[in-house]
Amino acid sequence: MGRRNKITVVGAGNVGATAAHWLASKELGDVVLVDIMEGVPQGKALDLAQAAPVEGFDARMIGSTNDYQLTSNSDVVIITAGLPRKPGMSRDDLLKTNSDIVSKVVEQVVRYSPDSILIVVSNPLDAMCQVALRRSGFPKHRVIGMAGVLDSARMRCFLAEALDVSVENVTAFVLGGHGDTMVPLPRYSTCAGIPVTELLSQDQIEAIVKRTANGGAEIVKLLGFGSAYYAPSAAAVEMTESILKDKKKILPCAAYLEGEYGINGLYVGVPCKLGARGLEQIIEINLTSDERIALQKSAAAVQELVNVLGV
Ligand code: NAI
Ligand code: 2OP
Repeated sequence: MGRRNKITVVGAGNVGATAAHWLASKELGDVVLVDIMEGVPQGKALDLAQAAPVEGFDARMIGSTNDYQLTSNSDVVIITAGLPRKPGMSRDDLLKTNSDIVSKVVEQVVRYSPDSILIVVSNPLDAMCQVALRRSGFPKHRVIGMAGVLDSARMRCFLAEALDVSVENVTAFVLGGHGDTMVPLPRYSTCAGIPVTELLSQDQIEAIVKRTANGGAEIVKLLGFGSAYYAPSAAAVEMTESILKDKKKILPCAAYLEGEYGINGLYVGVPCKLGARGLEQIIEINLTSDERIALQKSAAAVQELVNVLGV
């Protein structure tokens, strides 16, 4: 008899609970929601399970407060545990607190799901990936960070709006760390295969690049209570789907680089092929010298955080 995929989502807050929603509605597998809050993951799981008859999905929804036994043998584990940004707070302010949280979570996750693939979402993203890699002892192809799919989705949204076309026509690439130094690449962004640099003015493109890099902060400021969660959770679920269905999509993800793009021993966002084995290939694209310098600068910002943590 076949076995459904099992996906654990740690952190049943805004990103985690919304990820569980997308996972269930896409029938990607049974979902276990874990949080430290008493009753919250159970309540959200029960609520989602009761949406199933209306929406017509078959997936078991389980909630757990700190009991990782219920997560045993998960195929994919999405880690969203941590504190989100408050207005005026940078992603880096979260460094120490979230590093301790991610360390504790990863320790429990690997104990019960030693063969799982980890998708890290907690911020500051690239440094938290490095923490998860070290704490898990997993090979690098099984510890991947979500940021580029979100950042490029933001850029695609802005490009589609400027061009007045379907978002489905637009692709975009954003490389580098998930922070103010991220590197949107208009040259590799297209509309129906046409480089957007041929369709929009330099000024329009510059404005979109700037808005993309500031995309997270724009929403933090508007919300006033936390950070974005619809697009971030959808992005983590697209990565999960590519892995569970072995789709081999090429998506911008945070990957542990060992020489690629001239970067060594560090997580940075690059184009990755995601399939059943996790990160199956890092794709190296040609960069202009300006783009390369911007990527190095972004990697240096990640390196600074990693140095502070000593991981
Ligand atoms: P949230 O506050 O709504 O949810 C976080 C949840 O983590 C809370 O329910 C909290 O109780 C839980 N938690 C804290 N310590 C835990 C532990 N030790 N074990 C299990 N659960 C624990 O925050 P939200 O909006 O869901 O964001 C979650 C994280 O994701 C934040 O660090 C945020 O900055 C990050 N993020 C990253 C993005 C990216 O592109 N990589 C995009 C959006 C958010
Ligand atoms: C975002 O980009 C806060 O990292 C989060 O929305």
